[in-house]
Amino acid sequence: AADCFERGLLTGRRVLITAGPTREAIDPVRYVSNHSSGKMGFALAEAAAEAGAAVTLVSGPVHLPTPQRVARIDVVSARDMLAACEGAMPCDILIAAAAVADYRPEAVASQKMKKDPGSDDGLTLRLVRNPDILATLAARADRPFSVGFAAETEHLLDYAARKLKSKNLDLIVANDVANPQIGFNSEDNAVSVIDRALQATRFEQASKGQIARQLIAFIAARYHQS
Ligand code: CTP
Ligand code: CA
Repeated sequence: AADCFERGLLTGRRVLITAGPTREAIDPVRYVSNHSSGKMGFALAEAAAEAGAAVTLVSGPVHLPTPQRVARIDVVSARDMLAACEGAMPCDILIAAAAVADYRPEAVASQKMKKDPGSDDGLTLRLVRNPDILATLAARADRPFSVGFAAETEHLLDYAARKLKSKNLDLIVANDVANPQIGFNSEDNAVSVIDRALQATRFEQASKGQIARQLIAFIAARYHQS
């Protein structure tokens, strides 16, 4: 892995990375979101920049500093994230590490929603599907080398392989989010990367920074073979 950074394996390449959660408004003060910290995507952006790439990092709301020599675009919703990514195209390599909200409220109330004082009823929120950012970018004519993440709590490799196929990816990083030691919001990660031949390469538990360097070295090598 260290070799890759010394030789600047991604020098002159444009790398687009999505990171963090998205936030989908319910009303001016409330939203639907998830627990993604953005740490893995930011660590990947830092490692890609160290490998010599020109990195654009499109990030949902997170509490992280921008890595050196990385162009960061902050967004809130999934639709904002897609628009920002489309604006950053073309690129050579896309790494989709964001935990994009799959659904958003069908309508956003223009004023803070009030409880009905005359009733104890619950509230039903109607949600609609968000666009799939990764699948949309991987379906373009100027398709980049496309790397996804699969956050799963069960059937990890099987579900990840299905996403690789259905989104037309080159690689997918399978992430076991049921394990509290790794994945969402933790300092460490441990992943398996699956390729189009369904070969899995295991990266054992290490800090997200170390995993990011190993992943960037692996992605760069596969990109140059493609
Ligand atoms: N992704 C995306 N846009 C979405 C949903 C997911 O770009 N609207 C990307 C993620 O960044 C990740 C990959 O697709 O790289 C897989 O995300 P994941 O949530 O694991 O899978 P989904 O396709 O959303 O399927 P599900 O949540 O139903 O398992
Ligand atoms: Ca999802």
